[in-house]
Amino acid sequence: MNQDDLKKAVAQAAVDYIAPRLTRHSIVGVGTGSTANHFIDLLAKHRDDFQGAVASSEATAQRLQQHGIEVFDLNSVADLEFYVDGADETNAYLELIKGGGAALTREKIVAAVAKTFICIADESKQVDVLGAFPLPVEVIPMARSHVGREIVKLGGDPVYRDGVRTDNGNLIIDIHNMSISNPAELETKLNQIVGVVTNGLFAHRPADILLLGTQDGVKTITR
Ligand code: A5P
Repeated sequence: MNQDDLKKAVAQAAVDYIAPRLTRHSIVGVGTGSTANHFIDLLAKHRDDFQGAVASSEATAQRLQQHGIEVFDLNSVADLEFYVDGADETNAYLELIKGGGAALTREKIVAAVAKTFICIADESKQVDVLGAFPLPVEVIPMARSHVGREIVKLGGDPVYRDGVRTDNGNLIIDIHNMSISNPAELETKLNQIVGVVTNGLFAHRPADILLLGTQDGVKTITR
């Protein structure tokens, strides 16, 4: 199976996991990226079995609506049983790097509200130590240089993601060359830099369940 087949397999596994647990009142949190897109396409077959979704990006909202799935504002939703999303890296503790698609802030917000965060990823995303994938940081535009200098003090190489604006109107700085031995500590330190909206480490709120696509089938890993 190629990487896209593995992404489809984990997307199907996520649908298989949540479908029997959905009620007509359920609202599902939906992530962003190519794996999440497979999930949306497969979830659409069940669209009459649940109320709707909360989207972690404008792109995801559009794809959900194209399938006839109603998209709700998170502020109007009291309960979110599941959040399903991909990742750029995961370690053994289901701590993640996310934000390759620049949607990290909304992804983090929806994950914070959801009772169960199901991460869907192919096996290329599994690492021993986070940080080979450049860590995205969402930054208020006027703080770009300041945040870059502070990242250098923390030992990283900040690279401005040219031409990218987030759905929130902000910039992305990717941190290269940082081996992240303590993800929760770094997540906190980065978020304390003035001008940072948030960063792509999901350590304080890791995934609860990882559905990992491998050549031997989909593995279910829990914390
Ligand atoms: C989006 O901002 C990211 O957090 C994605 O979840 C991540 O980049 C995974 O993307 P793919 O599913 O396309 O690999």
